[in-house]
Amino acid sequence: MSSEVKGGLEDVVVSTSAICFIDGQKGRLLYRGFDIDDLVEHSSFEEVVYLLWHSALPSRKELDAHVKVLSATATRKLPPGLIVLLRALPKKTTPMEVLRTGVSALSAFDPDAADNSREATARKAVRLTAQIPWERIRRGKPLVAPNPKLSLAANFLGMLRGGAATALEVKTFDVALMLHADHEFNASTFAARVTAATMSDLHSAITSAIGALKGPLHGGANEQVMRMVEQIGAPERAEGWIRKALADKARVMGFGHRVYRVEDPRAKHLRRLAMELGQQAGNTRYVEILNTVARVVTQEKHIYPNVDLYSGAAYKSMGIPTDQFTPIFAISRVAGWAAHVMEQHANNRLIRPRAEYTGPTHATYVPIDRR
Ligand code: CMC
Repeated sequence: MSSEVKGGLEDVVVSTSAICFIDGQKGRLLYRGFDIDDLVEHSSFEEVVYLLWHSALPSRKELDAHVKVLSATATRKLPPGLIVLLRALPKKTTPMEVLRTGVSALSAFDPDAADNSREATARKAVRLTAQIPWERIRRGKPLVAPNPKLSLAANFLGMLRGGAATALEVKTFDVALMLHADHEFNASTFAARVTAATMSDLHSAITSAIGALKGPLHGGANEQVMRMVEQIGAPERAEGWIRKALADKARVMGFGHRVYRVEDPRAKHLRRLAMELGQQAGNTRYVEILNTVARVVTQEKHIYPNVDLYSGAAYKSMGIPTDQFTPIFAISRVAGWAAHVMEQHANNRLIRPRAEYTGPTHATYVPIDRR
């Protein structure tokens, strides 16, 4: 690779965007100019979705109308044909695979499927954001009906677990959704934009994005973090375990970032909420293990926690199964992906980079029976 070619497009600016700003040196993250610390304190996931799609905070009237459409039973309801299709998938299909298949299949049921106008894409984005909780289909349990009176966070927890969630659980889940809603040109968003830039549709772009999010170097890291915590088992084992892992040159999930050179600003909110939830449930073991792991990794490697380190500890305290963690990331990121697809379509040019060719240039063709 020549010195001009950056592996993994590191630091390469591929386009302008007015959606999300990251200051990797100072550890700041802004959505449409608003600091996520302020949004976590004052806002809700629904309001953040409005902000990402409409470039401004809503008035009370605008927010009420937006929430009403997002939470309406008609918007949240899955088409019966989709349920039949997803139930036919083998039992071993993971929730992330179900999600990828489901989003792709949803386009076949969507009245606006191939319409790429901003209005149609916005309508599809509303439906996709509302339609996503399918865990019970995989488990073969009866589906819990969506409750139009509940926020997306409360409704998701209710549909996933049955029964009402506590106020702290709903707040934590809502904050997690806000924190994962967008993150500039990360791998999945870039995948969505590449697909959208061919003038393909929203469902295709988001299916591409879900495929990219699934990998353990991206959204899949949150599930791997919990598998690490379970392997460690107890806080007193954490220091020895992580020192050995570092000595063995292991890649530690939930640490490091292409853009942040300090702690990811989302991690502190999830650490605090995971601790509060753990205290409420009488089990702070996950966060204690992670705090020790974080202290050692930071000291030894000078790499810092990212968003995926503490989210799983919070989800686990709410009784959410580990293989749901990455789908939850996707449920939130649909908001950002849709904003990026709309931005891409509004000022589109095909994304088509070049490769530096390193193969042979004068190979002589030998017919098959003479090789
Ligand atoms: N554990 C151990 N070493 C690491 C880690 C880590 N998590 N992250 C980076 N390093 C080391 C790496 O070994 C390399 O060292 P050296 O220069 O001595 O070879 C150096 O730091 C640079 O690493 P890199 O892989 O070239 O950095 P990158 O910018 O390509 O990778 C990353 C960024 C996020 C893929 C990487 O930090 C990583 O694999 N982290 C673990 C997976 C993870 O937590 N992913 C979630 C990312 S944030 C949210 C999201 O996107 O979902």
